[in-house]
Amino acid sequence: MLKSVGINISKRNFSQNVISLQKLKTFQIYRWNPDTPSVKPRLQTYQVDLDNCGPMVLDALLKIKDEQDPTLTFRRSCREGICGSCAMNIGGINTLACICKIDTNTSKKQKIYPLPHMYVVKDLVPDLTNFYQQYKSIKPYLQRKEFPKDGKEILQSQEDRAKLDGLYECILCACCSTSCPSYWWNQEEYLGPSVLMQAYRWLLDSRDEAGASRKEMLDNSMSLYRCHTIMNCTKTCPKGLNPGVAIAEIKKMLAFEQ
Ligand code: SF4
Ligand code: SF4
Ligand code: FES
Repeated sequence: MLKSVGINISKRNFSQNVISLQKLKTFQIYRWNPDTPSVKPRLQTYQVDLDNCGPMVLDALLKIKDEQDPTLTFRRSCREGICGSCAMNIGGINTLACICKIDTNTSKKQKIYPLPHMYVVKDLVPDLTNFYQQYKSIKPYLQRKEFPKDGKEILQSQEDRAKLDGLYECILCACCSTSCPSYWWNQEEYLGPSVLMQAYRWLLDSRDEAGASRKEMLDNSMSLYRCHTIMNCTKTCPKGLNPGVAIAEIKKMLAFEQ
């Protein structure tokens, strides 16, 4: 007999009791393998002992991959909300797995899908080719005719620098764009909130001299004006940014500053 705090447990039942004392959380994770394309996507169930796991959803995914199923595929790098690679749909919300706490209510299953309405490369990995092509299309870099002759930096007032706050912090995780119904249905032509917020960041930069061509590129019926101010984008941004307002500001610029 093993003596515990006021409880007698027989050796035979010990391992059973240890298992029942574990805080087991059930995860249901989207699986699809391009090597077997005829097999339909499915949800696969895994259980993780929360007492032996870090607090974030990414910790659980890494634990599952390390200890239960090395074929489970997802992106991650920084594990601190900086790189944007672990973006996925967790419990119905687009967010970053590394800064999303596991719901510790073990009676509830946690469902995890890839970012919605995107082609899937494998399991939780979305194909971001079109997203990055759209980002490239806005020329996300400083454009000027001349640079300082002394080779030093281009100075900016503190007020002008402050205008970039709330914009430069975007990590291009695509959580916002893939939560936007307009982007779901028009992603070949509509740039989506993430890329439009970066377009706004360059329009606002006092050091950039390509404002006219940047505005011209956006001034058509699809690139910008597919946004109907539904604001899903702002609601879901895991960095607390406001792409919906950035889009509204571009529309104002086009209307009043041509
Ligand atoms: S505000 Fe615009 S960009 Fe944001 S979710 Fe709505 S339609 Fe999409
Ligand atoms: S605005 Fe937010 S949700 Fe959208 S890409 Fe940037 S960090 Fe991600
Ligand atoms: S791993 Fe980099 S943002 Fe999550």
